[in-house]
Formats: sequence, C-alpha cells, structure tokens
Amino acid sequence: MTVHIGAKPGDIAETVLLPGDPYRARWAAENFLEDAVCVNEVRGMLGFTGTYKGNRVTIHGSGMGMPSLSIYVNELIKDYGAKTLIRIGSAGGMQEHVKVRDVVIAMTASTLSTPSRGIFKELNFAPCADYGLLRAAADAAQAKGTPTHVGGIYSSDVFYDERPDLNEQMVRHGILGVEMEAAELYNLAARYGVRGLAVLTISDHLLTGEALPSEDREQSFGDMVEIALEAAFA
Ligand code: ADE
Repeated sequence: MTVHIGAKPGDIAETVLLPGDPYRARWAAENFLEDAVCVNEVRGMLGFTGTYKGNRVTIHGSGMGMPSLSIYVNELIKDYGAKTLIRIGSAGGMQEHVKVRDVVIAMTASTLSTPSRGIFKELNFAPCADYGLLRAAADAAQAKGTPTHVGGIYSSDVFYDERPDLNEQMVRHGILGVEMEAAELYNLAARYGVRGLAVLTISDHLLTGEALPSEDREQSFGDMVEIALEAAFA
C-alpha cells in the first residue's frame, strides 16, 4: 500500500492505462478486460487489474490535472513497478482538420509549467512519447480505421483559461489539442526509464465550439481504449 493506492504488492500490472475519470476506469475494465478485480478505491480513485488477450493490465484513474496524475504515476512506477503507462483521455481540438471524435496520439506535450518545473528550472525540457508505443498506437488506429492524428499537444494547468493568447500561440504552432495531464506523464516516464504515451479523443473544439454529445462519448472512448491496449501489447 502507498499513501494514495490501497493495492497490495503484485496487484498492479506492469502495463497501466490511465483515464482521468475513475468511473471511466471501471467502464473500461468491465468492457475490455477479462477477470477484472478492483485493486484500489482510496479517495474514490478506482483501479482494476485484469487481462486483455491474456496480457495482464491495470486500468487506474489519474484524476484531473498534472499534480493529481503525478501522485498516481509516481506511486505506480516507484512502488508498484509499472513499466508502460498510457493516458487515455479527452482533449479540446485546436486545428480545423482535427475533428470532434477523432483520436490524437501525442508525440510531444508543450506546457507552461509542470510539477517537474522545480527540477528543470530555466531549462525547457521537451516531454515526448515513447516512440515504440507511439508507432504501435498509430498502427492500431489505422488498422481500426479510426480517424487519427499524430503530433504535438498542449498540457494546460487551467480548463477555464483566462489567457486565450496562449491557446492562440498553440494553434498558430500546429498543436493538435489541449488537455491537462500528458506532459507530466512524459516527464516522469523519462525520469524513471519507463514507456509513456497519451492517446486522446477530441471531446470539444476550441475553434468551432462543437462538443461531443454525451451519447457518443462511450463509443469514442472505447475506440481509444482498444488502440491503447493494442499498442501496449504490440
Ligand atoms: N480536456 C478536454 N477538453 C479540454 C479543454 N478544452 N481544455 C483542457 N482540457 C480539456
């Protein structure tokens, strides 16, 4: 047990999928894993371990924002030995050609700051995905026929952003979408020598104001879960 995870040693698989929402963790475990058992419910942050095509996998909530993700990812890596960590979540579209429901595979994650800022100080470290996972996810998305984009995303600290100029600069520099967690996952994966990736569904669009209707969210979320699972065990 750790401060935030009640799982026993060995309860967590080496491969962990990380949705922000703990209820999404339960939904994904129920729909995609065999023999899934709940391994954590501390503070309602649910985690489940089961198998996918015979491979052991844990699906565990990360919470919203980089400080929350940092707590779970630190403990999953350092205390439970996680070796492959894939964020599955939503993002706001930032380019015309990136449509609501499309999948974005994040090659890099730009930020204003992360919980790792204290280490990097004036250095602008470039958080990036594990290339093998990225390539496997792109292949899995293509095989499924899911409209998918691979490129840079923006990990923001604020959902209700009072500085639209930053979003404008991201759009201008070809960033595909905005979310709030991937950059710190990539920082921690680099620091501890494990594999990190973020696979995202576009749930809303900053340029068009469009938002994914709630009845469509499950289907889009399911496509992303399958892409992440296929990539993890490719
Ligand atoms: N996640 C999904 N949509 C988002 C948005 N518009 N901004 C930040 N994070 C998001």
